[in-house]
Amino acid sequence: PDDVEIHELLKGKDIASIAKYMKSKHCKNVFIMAGAGISTSAGIPDFRSPKTGLYSNLAKLNLPFPEAVFEINFFRKNPVPFYTLAHELAPGKFRPTLTHSFIRLLSEKGLLHTHFTQNIDTLERRAGVPDEDIIEAHGSFATQRCIDCGEPYDGDEIKRKIKGKEIPYCNVCQGLVKPDIVFYGEGLPDEFHLAAPSLKNADLLFVMGTSLTVHPFAGLTRLVPRRCPRVLVNLELAGDIGSRTNDVTILRECDIAVRELARELGWEEDLDKLWEET
Ligand code: APR
Ligand code: ZN
Repeated sequence: PDDVEIHELLKGKDIASIAKYMKSKHCKNVFIMAGAGISTSAGIPDFRSPKTGLYSNLAKLNLPFPEAVFEINFFRKNPVPFYTLAHELAPGKFRPTLTHSFIRLLSEKGLLHTHFTQNIDTLERRAGVPDEDIIEAHGSFATQRCIDCGEPYDGDEIKRKIKGKEIPYCNVCQGLVKPDIVFYGEGLPDEFHLAAPSLKNADLLFVMGTSLTVHPFAGLTRLVPRRCPRVLVNLELAGDIGSRTNDVTILRECDIAVRELARELGWEEDLDKLWEET
C-alpha cells in the first residue's frame, strides 16, 4: 500500500530520493519549518552556532545572559542592548538567499501549504513568498507598538530612531516602543496556534536551518502524520528528526542542498531566475 511505496521512494535517504518522492502522487502539501540557518548566507548571524552565533557575540552589551537581549522584563529595564542589535540587524540591509527563493519556487509550483518561520528578518516576504503562506511564529520587524498602552508606532519613525541609535517612546503615554517580535516571556501570535493543526495534512515537512531549541515552535515536528517524510536540511542534527522511519537528514548548507534538489526536480533554471530577481 501507500506506506510501502513511500518508504520505497525514500530508500536512498538522499536528495535524489526526496525529489523522486516529490514527483510522486503522494506529495501534495509541503510544509516548512525554518530558522536562522536559512539566512546566515545573507550575512545575518544565527543564534547558537559556536563563534559566529549571535549569542556568543553579545559580550559588548554586557547582558546577564545572551537571551536577555530578547527578554521582555530585561527590555523594560534596559532597551539599549536590543536596540543596539536592531541597528545591526535592521531589515532592508540584507538580500534573500537561494533557500528563500526555493521556498517561493515551491509556492509557484503549487506545492507549498505553509511556511512556518522563526526568523524576524522578513526575507521570505522579500523573496516573494505569498504572505498568506507565511507564519512568522516569532513575529517580525514589520510592525511595532507601545508595550504599555499598545498604541501602534509609525514604521518610518522607528527606522529613523534605530538609524539614529535612539530609543523610540510612545507618543501617547511615553511608554517603550518594541517591534512586534516575540520576546521570551511573551506568547506566540494566534495565527501560529491556528495554523499548527494543519500539519496533520502534511505530505512532506522540510526543517531547515534550525537547532529546534525553542518551544513551542520546535514541537511542530511531531504534528505531521507518521507516513509524512520529515527532511532536516541543517549543518547538524536537530530535535527528534531521525527518530521516524521516513525521516531524512541532509547535513549540508541549505543553499547547496536546495540547488541540488532543484536540479533533481528539473527546476534549477526556474530557481536561478527567481533568485536573480530578488
Ligand atoms: N545551512 C544549514 N544549516 C545552517 C546554516 C546553513 N548555511 N547556517 C547555520 N545553520 C544551522 C546551525 O547549525 C544551527 O543548527 O542552523 C541552526 C541555527 O540554529 P539557531 O542558531 O539556534 O537558530 P534558530 O533555531 O532559528 O533559533 C530559534 O531562538 O533565540 C531564539 O527567537 C530566537 O527564533 C530564534 C530561536
Ligand atoms: Zn503608550
